[in-house]
Amino acid sequence: MKKIEAIIRRSKFDEVKAALHAIDIDFFTYSETFGVGNERKKKEIFRGSSDTDFISRLSLSIVVRDINLQKTVDCLLKSAYTGEIGDGKIFVSTIDESYRIRTKEKGDDSLYMKE
Ligand SMILES: Nc1ncnc2c1ncn2[C@@H]1O[C@H](COP(=O)(O)OP(=O)(O)OP(=O)(O)O)[C@@H](O)[C@H]1O
Ligand SMILES: [Mg+2]
Repeated sequence: MKKIEAIIRRSKFDEVKAALHAIDIDFFTYSETFGVGNERKKKEIFRGSSDTDFISRLSLSIVVRDINLQKTVDCLLKSAYTGEIGDGKIFVSTIDESYRIRTKEKGDDSLYMKE
């Protein structure tokens, strides 16, 4: 299992959510997030400012089966994209274990609802 953490623009949330739904990824945790970037170092200019820390962003945390990792990342890369500086980041890590509390299922079985 893999965990995908995506820092995206809040303005892209509805589009990202719909795109994930379209590939049957209907589950994730999200929260408001605050961050600092390396804007000054790169001398980026965003709307006349070199500071994009004020961009309102959300953090999405999505745990998927290994087999669904790439399609989920590709979906995020496409749906969260504007091409402007500050589109966000995607981090992938390995999840050791997962449990559905109600059924005690674990691993891959605990991630998706049965048909
Ligand atoms: N190494 C990191 N670890 C954790 N969070 C990070 C890291 N780098 C960036 N972030 C998060 O991403 C935000 C910056 O996103 P941003 O899209 O500006 O990335 P970037 O690498 O500067 O790309 P761009 O060139 O498009 O601006 C930060 O505010 C922070 O929340
Ligand atoms: Mg940046």
